[in-house]
Amino acid sequence: MNYPVKVQLVEKSRREGLDFGSLPFGKTFSDHMFVADYKDGEWQNCQILPYGDISFAPSLMALHYGQSVFEGMKANISTKTGEPVLFRAKKHAKRFRISSERLGMPEIPEELFLEAVKTLVYLDKQWIPETAGSALYIRPFIFATDESLGVRASTSYKFIVFTGPVGAYYPKPVRILVAQKYVRAFPGGVGSAKAAGNYAATLKPAEMAKKSGFDQILWLDGLEFKYIQECGTMNIFAVIGDTVITPPTTDAILDGVTRDSILHLLKEMGIKVEVRALGIQELTDAHKAGELKEMFGSGTAAVVSHVADLCYKDVVYSMPDISERKIGPMIKKTLTDIKENTIEENNGWVTPAISSILEEAN
Ligand code: COI
Repeated sequence: MNYPVKVQLVEKSRREGLDFGSLPFGKTFSDHMFVADYKDGEWQNCQILPYGDISFAPSLMALHYGQSVFEGMKANISTKTGEPVLFRAKKHAKRFRISSERLGMPEIPEELFLEAVKTLVYLDKQWIPETAGSALYIRPFIFATDESLGVRASTSYKFIVFTGPVGAYYPKPVRILVAQKYVRAFPGGVGSAKAAGNYAATLKPAEMAKKSGFDQILWLDGLEFKYIQECGTMNIFAVIGDTVITPPTTDAILDGVTRDSILHLLKEMGIKVEVRALGIQELTDAHKAGELKEMFGSGTAAVVSHVADLCYKDVVYSMPDISERKIGPMIKKTLTDIKENTIEENNGWVTPAISSILEEAN
């Protein structure tokens, strides 16, 4: 690889004795992290270090103006080879570049992004859980590190990757509340980027929804409050009759890797798919006509999460029991089987985590 990397390994792994039986999402972190600095127009000071704290000045720009984006991706142990494999790593690298560019941050070269991810996954492969539905979650992120209060793009940045074993993000089907007042994203904004601030904007409305007994919010477009966009941390799909419908990715909707994979697989399977604007009125009308068969969200963390109930203007629209659904459960299983390398896929989505950093260090 074109960037020299200093490798400092942990003296003793924290893995031993940890129970991977019931893993809450995002609470346990593996032994190592990758850190690189952007300074004087180039990426430098690449290091593999024991996972741990980093200290910053209170004037760190990311803390004040939110110049920060992240990715979420997953690795599993291949049931065929027993070795770690990554799911759609190149697509995540590309989205990270697009998000960083939208937030005025420097591009992370694909080689640097992928080597950082592959090396960590390989190094900490004993942290990859193998129970059904679990995975090693990988969190690459970049943030502004200039110490300054002037409002401008930073000139220095940090890129960090760390990982941790995770179970299901939503352990049961979700109850969702349709947004009536707040908006997640709007044309010309940063809704399609994985910007930290996009998530901050949803926290207060999500807390309010939780207090009313809902798990997440279904966001509508900010201009007319008519068209569905995303749901919580997920893209959203509805099955009306025998057709699967999802809104197109615009500058207000994230180009979800799981969303894209689902669309691909459904088309390969010959299932009718429409990528088009989907109005909340059309959804509730379809429900009244008995045609709304399923709804599910998709995301790296969530994989496929079935919607149990949808609440719009104080009316609750309940979906059929999971046992009566066909497409959501089928696509969830297919995706999981692909990620775990249990079934073949012909799209080059599943790749081994082989690290040239470690090969060069040996
Ligand atoms: C992911 O699915 O990786 C996400 O970005 C969700 C995350 C915010 C938990």
